Amino acid sequence: MTKRQLGPTTQLYPMPALLVTVRTGEGSAGILTVAWAAIMGGQPPMMALEIGGSHYSTPYIEQEGSFTVNVPSTKQAVGADYCGSVSGTQDPAKAETCGWTLAPSTQIASPLIVECPLNFECRIVQKIEAGRAAFYLVEILETHVDEGALGDDGKPSAQGVDPLIFTPDGYYYGLGERLGKAWSIGKALQ
Ligand SMILES: Cc1cc2nc3c(=O)[nH]c(=O)nc-3n(C[C@H](O)[C@H](O)[C@H](O)COP(=O)(O)O)c2cc1C
Repeated sequence: MTKRQLGPTTQLYPMPALLVTVRTGEGSAGILTVAWAAIMGGQPPMMALEIGGSHYSTPYIEQEGSFTVNVPSTKQAVGADYCGSVSGTQDPAKAETCGWTLAPSTQIASPLIVECPLNFECRIVQKIEAGRAAFYLVEILETHVDEGALGDDGKPSAQGVDPLIFTPDGYYYGLGERLGKAWSIGKALQ
């Protein structure tokens, strides 16, 4: 196979399509789509997200010091794309436009998106300035999951959550077929 060098890029496959929700006032919240995010640690559970400084939601994120990260299922693909394409300056009530319900969190002021099967309440522990954006390192304070998305082990299951996936060529996907069990199929080579 001949390889072509592309230089430094962000072409990492796949990425999550997450919905960051932040309180913007009494009974109101901003929502933006974030794909540049990943779990960063387990004890305590941490996540890192890259968020642009010019977004409508960003000053509220700074003010609150916390936000929820909502994992949309493939059913919320159109709404997720809307929240990532339209600014809160144009539509300060994106949840309503998308037909979604906001519900209170238990640890922070920003609400959860009920229709998303998996939700994390997050508190910012560190901010790293990165030009016109910043990397937010957040601690996950609480996890909410639809009961119907739980697997037999009591944890969220991939098939139950049916997460929306973003790929850097600019498309959304659902999960593909299951290939094998982790920490298991590699044993074939041991
Ligand atoms: C698929 C997708 C992924 C995105 N990922 C990010 C991201 O990782 N970080 C970011 O700051 N903006 C990201 N955006 C852009 C914001 O979601 C978008 O600018 C949004 O309208 C900002 O909303 P606000 O101005 O209401 O805060 C993404 C947009 C889409 C469609």
